Amino acid sequence: MLDLRAQHLSIRAEVLAALERVVDSQYFVLGPEVAELECELAGYCQSPFAIGCASGTDALILALRALDIGPGDEVITVPFSFYATASCIALTGARPVFCDILPDTFNMDPAALEQTLERHPRAKAILPVHLFGACANMDAILALTQLRGIPVVEDAAQAIGAEDNHRRAGSIGTIGCFSFFPTKNLGGGGDGGLLTTRDAQIADRLRSLRVHGSKQRYYHEELGMNSRLDALQAAILRAKFPHLDRWTALRQAHAARYRELLAGTPVQLPAVAAHSNRHVFNQFTIRAPRRDELKAHLAQQGIQSETYYPLPLHLQQCFAGLGYREGDFPVSEAAARDCLSLPVYPELPREDLETVAAAIHSFYN
Ligand SMILES: Cc1ncc(COP(=O)(O)O)c(C=O)c1O
Repeated sequence: MLDLRAQHLSIRAEVLAALERVVDSQYFVLGPEVAELECELAGYCQSPFAIGCASGTDALILALRALDIGPGDEVITVPFSFYATASCIALTGARPVFCDILPDTFNMDPAALEQTLERHPRAKAILPVHLFGACANMDAILALTQLRGIPVVEDAAQAIGAEDNHRRAGSIGTIGCFSFFPTKNLGGGGDGGLLTTRDAQIADRLRSLRVHGSKQRYYHEELGMNSRLDALQAAILRAKFPHLDRWTALRQAHAARYRELLAGTPVQLPAVAAHSNRHVFNQFTIRAPRRDELKAHLAQQGIQSETYYPLPLHLQQCFAGLGYREGDFPVSEAAARDCLSLPVYPELPREDLETVAAAIHSFYN
């Protein structure tokens, strides 16, 4: 699915030099390396402010905390995403309220959001996900939220550099949240995350919340977290960042090749909506009849594939207390049954794409 060693070999010297720089400086937490990364990524994400933190999960929690979300509040999100999209809401003490996705892009369905807002008019924030590297339809979402004055937190963990109507992921809503988990398009050497915002006050608050709610050492205005980005992570990310656009172009080229190679099979290829003008393909996810059998067939031929995500969030045991049932979000439930992600990492050899496609053809023939 992902060969991180192939990527590492191509940039090994740069990464080791970056690590050496930090170790020699003995400046390990925040500091100049993190500040430089924040500056570079603020530019890349077209946001005036970028704030590093310890993970994408923490970025989501910090974002909600900066919007004063807590017990008694409701936040609307989608059930077809990674667990952290909804757990972060519950971890602030607020209640996740789910709204279904679109069957072609797997992103928040604006019509479903409108209905959910009618039932939950006091929702304190909306949390759309830019799943698999494609932006949700932010104009349609903002048309509903701006009228009501509801902030939007973008879960852009999988979508660094993706664009929606020529605006970068993370720059469109109130706050953007990114992950540097090693499988992400810009992955670190462990956990890491980033927040982006256009609002100077929110940026200030986030900087304080990530260091124990403190602006001045040993004086704490509010309850914060220890969620700093390590200088070693920032240095690795800075070594990788200059390659990100090239890696993204390779992902896009692989996706285009899969489209050619998979024509004529019954699988549904990833839709690219008109508003989503830069899909960064963190995943190449098809909808496949007899998905589990296909996955087993690929595995037999030594081809890894992955099921993102086999159980929608509203049916997870940890959210049973929310009272949702099977059937509540049919589009998400169907996606969980038939989605399959194929290898699409930048260094994937071209012949491998052909091998994967041939195996899919042979399964359905
Ligand atoms: C959509 C989504 N949201 C949130 C996260 C959480 O990020 P992290 O693993 O860095 O905590 C991830 C990544 O794993 C993700 O894919």
